[in-house]
Amino acid sequence: MAEDYTLKIRRFDPESGEPAYWQEFKVGLEPERSVLDGILQARGDQDGSIGIRCSCQAAICGSCGVKINGRSRLACNTLIGEAAEDAERKFDGGAIVVEPMGNMPVLKDLIVDMDAVHWKKVQRVVPWLIPEGDPPAREYIVPAESMIDITQAMACIHCGACVSACLSLEVDQDFIGPAALAKAYRFVGDPRDGQTEERLKDLAEDPHGIYDCTHCFSCVEVCPKDVAPMDQIMRLRRRATGDYEIKDSNNGYGHEKAFVNIIEKYGTLHEAQLLPRSFGQGSMVRSQLDPNSLKQLTESLPTVVNGLKSGKVSPVKAIWHHKLPDQKNVRRIFKQIESKDERLELNLYIVGEDNE
Ligand code: SF4
Ligand code: SF4
Ligand code: FES
Repeated sequence: MAEDYTLKIRRFDPESGEPAYWQEFKVGLEPERSVLDGILQARGDQDGSIGIRCSCQAAICGSCGVKINGRSRLACNTLIGEAAEDAERKFDGGAIVVEPMGNMPVLKDLIVDMDAVHWKKVQRVVPWLIPEGDPPAREYIVPAESMIDITQAMACIHCGACVSACLSLEVDQDFIGPAALAKAYRFVGDPRDGQTEERLKDLAEDPHGIYDCTHCFSCVEVCPKDVAPMDQIMRLRRRATGDYEIKDSNNGYGHEKAFVNIIEKYGTLHEAQLLPRSFGQGSMVRSQLDPNSLKQLTESLPTVVNGLKSGKVSPVKAIWHHKLPDQKNVRRIFKQIESKDERLELNLYIVGEDNE
């Protein structure tokens, strides 16, 4: 049965010269219909000038990305009844708040410029296969299991929801970003590609590349296709550090080694050692001897002073850090993992039992 809902839509027309404003529309729909249905009803019956991009209305084409009640998502994939309940919990008025996605310029109302940000970043990662050598007489033969690794990244429909939600992008607009980096893994993980090391080196050396992600999980939470872009970025890092030992000028390699070595030694994070060990590619000794590490340590003195001032680092804590009482169990886990011939990658996108 149809119910009444209120949509509070952010309106903006850059060509009008007027600032953005909010406008409310009442629509009548069954709760199982989508927020997109509501927007289209408002546009059809009340104001034909509402700008919204959409096509498939079935969560396939990726064109209807918007923010609903502050969360980036597909309008066609969001039930209007649930959005209203969510709005009731979040906002006093209870109207469903619909606004354009973040981190991209608004072209009109709910339409953002995907070319200016999302597609530009996708182009940045060279989104096509670069095979090595002469092509085979017929097609490339690839074992099916080797493609499992990249199926998750291949599920991306380029809706831009992760780009909209990315916190690193908010502070660094040059960050390559979650969708483009997930796309990069699609080729890095493809056995037919002949430029794996070059791609990884490029993305590791770029100051806005794989080490610019802060693990905030926002992209994982909003992706409507479970691509989990952050997981793909972590895979790129593991390939860069673990498989190719790429020692990048961003200290991403050193930072990862620092974390691993500190946990192996203490079981918990020794914050005061993180910085020097990162500069020393994981080693405290190297951080004191290597001229480049010493230079970086000197340059980071203001950060250390800030840490001391804020209380995050104290002289006592800097020198003394307790080991976990059962630290030997942590070491045992390390040994067990290191004794494996191959790294075990868990692709959480593939579900089911081993024997299926
Ligand atoms: S996890 Fe990384 S890529 Fe994903 S939204 Fe956060 S900062 Fe951006
Ligand atoms: S990774 Fe997910 S959220 Fe990001 S563009 Fe692709 S489908 Fe959309
Ligand atoms: S209209 Fe195609 S994904 Fe929503």
